Amino acid sequence: MSHSDQSVYYSSYLQLDKILDAQHTESSKKGIEAHDEMLFIITHQAFELWFKQIMFELDSVISLLQKKSIAEHEISMCVKGIHRMNKILHMTSSQFEVLETMTALDFMDFRDLLHPASGFQSLQFRILEIRLGLPESKRLNKHFMIALNESDKAQVLSALQKPTLFDSVQQWLENTPFIETDKYKFWHEYKLAVMQTFEKDRHDIVQHDILSAEEKEQRIQSIYQAESSFNSLFDNSSYQELIQKGERFLSHKATMAALFINLYRSFPLLQKPFELIHEISTFDENMSLWRYRHSVMTAKMIGSRIGTGGSSGSHYLAMTAMKQRIFNDITSLSGMLLSRRTLPDLPADIIKQLQFTFEQ
Ligand code: HEM
Repeated sequence: MSHSDQSVYYSSYLQLDKILDAQHTESSKKGIEAHDEMLFIITHQAFELWFKQIMFELDSVISLLQKKSIAEHEISMCVKGIHRMNKILHMTSSQFEVLETMTALDFMDFRDLLHPASGFQSLQFRILEIRLGLPESKRLNKHFMIALNESDKAQVLSALQKPTLFDSVQQWLENTPFIETDKYKFWHEYKLAVMQTFEKDRHDIVQHDILSAEEKEQRIQSIYQAESSFNSLFDNSSYQELIQKGERFLSHKATMAALFINLYRSFPLLQKPFELIHEISTFDENMSLWRYRHSVMTAKMIGSRIGTGGSSGSHYLAMTAMKQRIFNDITSLSGMLLSRRTLPDLPADIIKQLQFTFEQ
């Protein structure tokens, strides 16, 4: 059976003529022997293709979360999209192992030919950071635009105008019903329960018959400190000060909603929202792991030398893993949880709603 011009053919559908003709080593252009440059190029290209898929999913999640009214099945679609992004990022981290079959000495065969090109110039990676919602105050490399050509700069500027995942999630969380009604304010009830727990902890320390008076005093003081930081999270005006100081990024209302969803996740209507915030926080973690894995590989390849893009190299990359977390405020909610046993009961009317319909 022959193929007509119209029928879909494997290699033309996948445009393999373009993809498989896109590996041109600098070393062969210059007549230099550098066997591993092919692996270097293909590894980067594979990463860039996966970044493209991640951004495709991210774009659709953001569009769904931007809707005024979000149906439950749309939350499921967001969960699915971010879950897929998580699988991809996790899998690409292990691709560094393949690149590590190239040794530092092999890399030196062609590294100087690449100057000044660098991963700094990965447009997709920069747009990914921007669309996730990396705030400028957290960005370590504030001058990344200098390294880009005019066309890439224009694309970065256009990405900066688009909604971010952070803003969309914040807006969606702020619209969570149930956490405040005429008769009920979730965080007031929760604060009371938390304060009772601290009171009990202090009482237990005083009753302790092994601890010295000094140790008791130290422990009691640290409980007071924990109580005071809890209080600043519950109280809106203290919370605004934390935002001003750059210690918090997510709004007070959204943080309280995320806490509520986290605590009462066993109710049917909160299960999908919980999965969504869980996937988002896992993606943030996977980005950090990706950054750290890349930094470890870089240290193996170039030691403490500076990068071709002029940064401090592996040290800079390790710092981005620690400092550029976008959804810390959601991940760190685990420090605010009470055990299920001590969780305040919800009012009957809210329980009734949580078991049936979800309307924003
Ligand atoms: C031998 C392998 C590699 C080495 C030695 C290396 C080294 C570096 C260094 C030193 C930087 C910091 C910027 C600079 O000063 O140049 C950097 C940035 C970057 N590299 Fe790599 N890299 C390697 C492989 C990869 C691969 C396979 C990817 C996958 C796409 C990648 C993506 C990036 C990205 C996105 C950045 C920007 C990170 C940021 O600014 O947060 N690199 N790389």
